Amino acid sequence: MRGNLLVVSNRGPFTIEENNGSLKYRPAVSGLVSAVLPAVKKIGGTWLAWAGRIAEKPAEVQAVIKDEFQFVEILLSREEVEGYYEGYANGVLWPLCHLMPEKVRMYEENYRIYREVNQKFAQKAATLLRTGTLLWIHDYHLALMPHFIRQKNPWQRIAFFWHIPFPPVELFTIQPWAEEILRGLLGADIIGFHIDDYRENFLRAVERVLKLPVNYEWGTVYYNGREVLVKAVPIGIETKNFQKEVPEITEIEQEIAGLKIFLGVERLDYTKGLKEKIQGFARFLEKNPEYRGKVKLLQVAVPTRENIDQYQTYAREVLAEAAKVNERFGDNHWQPIKILKRNYSQEELIYLYRIADALVITSLEDGLNLVAKEYIASRKEPGVLILSKRTGVARQLNAALLVNPYSPEEIALKMKEAIEMPDTLKKKSFSLLKEQVILKNNEWWLENFLGKELRLMDTGFGKYYRKRGEKKVGAID
Ligand code: F6P
Repeated sequence: MRGNLLVVSNRGPFTIEENNGSLKYRPAVSGLVSAVLPAVKKIGGTWLAWAGRIAEKPAEVQAVIKDEFQFVEILLSREEVEGYYEGYANGVLWPLCHLMPEKVRMYEENYRIYREVNQKFAQKAATLLRTGTLLWIHDYHLALMPHFIRQKNPWQRIAFFWHIPFPPVELFTIQPWAEEILRGLLGADIIGFHIDDYRENFLRAVERVLKLPVNYEWGTVYYNGREVLVKAVPIGIETKNFQKEVPEITEIEQEIAGLKIFLGVERLDYTKGLKEKIQGFARFLEKNPEYRGKVKLLQVAVPTRENIDQYQTYAREVLAEAAKVNERFGDNHWQPIKILKRNYSQEELIYLYRIADALVITSLEDGLNLVAKEYIASRKEPGVLILSKRTGVARQLNAALLVNPYSPEEIALKMKEAIEMPDTLKKKSFSLLKEQVILKNNEWWLENFLGKELRLMDTGFGKYYRKRGEKKVGAID
């Protein structure tokens, strides 16, 4: 194993399933994973995460070497999954950060379990830290972890990346635990967000709630005698992963023959605006009858967080909405919407990206949205991107057809514009989009967010704290 990086996140690079005593590793599909995996492979080290397994006995923990880094699994009990993951992380922080306070379900007990699980991750991480290790913690599931590590290891270098939006302070403080969450995060030395708005919201929350002086221009906070740096650096993807040749998906080939294809690729999450997209598409068919029988909306809808009530209801509503539109406009030969309700591998997604005339993203609120970047990176021919203004990535990909996801009228208009776009214009806007995706790729993100820390780990800080005689390690070595 190379490298001296310790990555910690809730969702790891694999989900593990146990089958008759043997373990099956399945690659996990998530924005966080597609961004962090290339970085870990490049630098080397260890990734500590939950792999979806529920078990009561901590002795069963797995550690395996895969792709040249070590993966260490954290096991959670049913009670921990319910309180920490489903209860507080996805029942309070997720809806609050996505500006949906009506979806928040607050229970003191869940927060208590969230705190305990953060402690559990911190204790396990502490056993994996070596001299000079850079600890890199990810996302809203582990907001208290930097504080717990700092308490035990005051000199540890800690980076934290928050992958979802950070809401305005007025919303963030609806929950009674806002102060503790902010203090938890400030245990890190460097905190990253995708865009300036989230970074500013965080700094304002620190200023208002903790009454600490912050420097908005430099993004610095002085906290307990340390300087914490807060940065906005949007994640990038490894574009070469999306340029490979991939096989056809036969059943899809039959579905799309001779039609113009609108594609959607989302988890079945209420923040993703799937209902709004379907309603916008219905408006498009209503206003443009000449396109009936000639277009199709292929919607990948990946099941997610299925134990949470709101997700079950949302999944049902999306399917019902699609059925309504198919009933209203479809006939025996043509159904306008096809919902593909399962997990798709990267190869399958590349195939879908390539057959789509336009990718349609109508998230109501979205930290960044890497699907937009994957679509651009996968295409051999120019394609059109219809992109919600309420995604972090809209700041970078402003050559897309930007849309207000709350307006079915606008979605319908942009759909028409997309399929009628003259080739020259399509080429031009696509090349602007591609330039952004290639320039601001995964390497750019890693260098801009963590470059200095990685060099410190390798040369300055790491060397300083490395025990005498210990061998130098790390990809940057
Ligand atoms: O990017 C936000 C995020 O919550 C990631 O942390 C996560 O991996 C992904 O969405 C999918 O959600 P979940 O891990 O709950 O399946």
